[in-house]
Order: sequence, then structure tokens, then C-alpha cells
Amino acid sequence: MTFDIRGFRGALGCFPTGIAVMTAATDEASHIGITVNSFTSVSLDPPLVLWCIDRRSRRYPFFASAPGFTISILAAGHRAVSARLAGPGEHSLDGIALIPTALGPPALADALAIFECARESVQDAGDHAILIGRVLRFAQHDGAGAPLVYFQGKYGALAQS
Ligand SMILES: Cc1cc2nc3c(=O)[nH]c(=O)nc-3n(C[C@H](O)[C@H](O)[C@H](O)COP(=O)(O)O)c2cc1C
Repeated sequence: MTFDIRGFRGALGCFPTGIAVMTAATDEASHIGITVNSFTSVSLDPPLVLWCIDRRSRRYPFFASAPGFTISILAAGHRAVSARLAGPGEHSLDGIALIPTALGPPALADALAIFECARESVQDAGDHAILIGRVLRFAQHDGAGAPLVYFQGKYGALAQS
């Protein structure tokens, strides 16, 4: 029996998500980023979050081996940044508005929230790997506006009553 991977992907896209950009150091002088919608919370105590990365991604070796990563939750105004860091090979943060963090990898300026994580574990799961991060520091920026939303392969906005 064949499995309809394309249809599966489409069905998964019926689950609306926010968007996050993960940043990590490649070496002392450089950082990379990737756009993801697989971010989710895991545990409050200890504070753990996860996201999944395609093991075929050129960015995978960096994120799988980095001691930690920074998570920026994107606002509606980050649409262009999100599209850029989702481009094939487009991992450079050059020209993107960033803010420094205490632990290392920078965060995106004007993010709704920022989580600074130490890598807790990396677990292979099919063609992806699950990266679990232990949150060491976080910040929430009230006033950063509405979130960037992703649904059925398109960016959208949250309808607020
Ligand atoms: C909205 C959106 C969400 C994405 N979420 C993920 C994700 O959770 N995990 C992942 O590995 N790639 C995800 N991607 C794909 C990466 O952003 C990027 O396109 C891919 O890593 C490019 O391949 P490269 O890393 O080999 O350059 C997403 C792309 C978009 C547009």
C-alpha cells in the first residue's frame, strides 16, 4: 500500500500554527537562522520546549550540535524575514534586525517572545529530528502586536474578536 505523502502534508497544514525563527552559533563569529512552525511547549517544570528539524536540511548539522539555540516568536510584521529564512540555503542573519541575548545566539528584534535554550536532547524521528531545549531565560514583549500565523501553506493573521 502506498502512502500519500503529499496529501498527508496537506492535511497537516490544516493545523494552524504560529511561526518561530531558531538561531544558533556556527562558530564564535557567525550565527544562522531557520524558520519553523514545529515549535511547541513540552514541560513547565523543568521548562522544556521542542521543535523538529529536517535531517536533510543544510542547517541540521549546526542546530544538532550547537550547545543551545534562541527562539523568536514572530509577529505579523516579520513575514519577509520568515520567508527569507525559509529559503533554500538562506541561513545567514546578515541584514536582519537582531537584538543581543544574554546567552549567545541573537533574537529577532520585535519578536513577541524570546526563549534562550540549552540543548537538552536531539532525537531522530523519521526524516526529522526532535530538538528539545531547556529554557534558561525568556522574555515576553507586550505590544509587539499580532502573531504571524501559518495555515494551509499560507501566511495569515489571527482573527481577534
Ligand atoms: C512556515 C514554514 C515552516 C517551516 N517549518 C519547518 C520546521 O518546523 N522544521 C524544518 O526543518 N523546516 C521547516 N521549514 C523549512 C525551512 O524553513 C527551510 O525552508 C529549509 O530548512 C530549507 O532547506 P535548507 O536548510 O537545506 O536550506 C519551514 C518553512 C516554512 C515556510
